[in-house]
Amino acid sequence: MHPTPEEFHSLLRRRRSRRFFTDQPIEPERLERALMAAMRAPSGANTQPWEYVLIERGPVRDKVRVLCEKADVKFHEASPDWLKAFFDDHMITPVKEFADNAPYLVAVFGRRDLPFWLQSVWLSVANFITALEIEGIHSLTYTPSLTRDFNRLLGVDESWSCQAVLPIGHGVENEELKPRPRKGLGEKVHVVSGDGKLRPFDATLPFDP
Ligand SMILES: Cc1cc2nc3c(=O)[nH]c(=O)nc-3n(C[C@H](O)[C@H](O)[C@H](O)COP(=O)(O)O)c2cc1C
Repeated sequence: MHPTPEEFHSLLRRRRSRRFFTDQPIEPERLERALMAAMRAPSGANTQPWEYVLIERGPVRDKVRVLCEKADVKFHEASPDWLKAFFDDHMITPVKEFADNAPYLVAVFGRRDLPFWLQSVWLSVANFITALEIEGIHSLTYTPSLTRDFNRLLGVDESWSCQAVLPIGHGVENEELKPRPRKGLGEKVHVVSGDGKLRPFDATLPFDP
């Protein structure tokens, strides 16, 4: 059974980044299906330059949290004012509580010597977070600037670059989710006519921001 286009769009709209998780476990089958969706992504020359590492709770995970928080302190300090304002608005601080609570942190690595590795890894992440949503599992696409210490901690070869660390699980019920409206097609999509004129796409369907 395929989802209808309307169902697919409502799924995409429903997915939100969650930053506070319970420790409720994830059903293994649901996680496995979401990982299968991640593997299904297209990639440059079908090289599939991604590697997913599921980090369970425990002492290594505690060290991951320390590395993430250290990286984030630096990142927050160096951020431009508009980004600092976004962080304040979202109550995003370098303290990463989700690194303790969520049943898994999923580190997604990319093999940086392969062509189009970066684009391909992110397409895979997009499949993953969408598939998690359909499985009723929440996620945060979290991108700490981690160094080689992180690879060493997990025993991952240094030719792999960590692109994202996603806490996944069940978001707490009372997390306040501020609206994050999306711009519509008229603003973000353009058409070049045969004579080279650029014009906004003439959208006809209702778009729910
Ligand atoms: C490439 C990428 C990097 C992101 N990095 C972070 C991050 O480091 N920390 C964080 O809290 N959110 C991060 N986010 C989440 C975005 O802030 C979020 O997706 C955006 O504000 C839209 O909100 P929504 O996901 O709830 O629709 C990232 C998202 C993407 C796609």
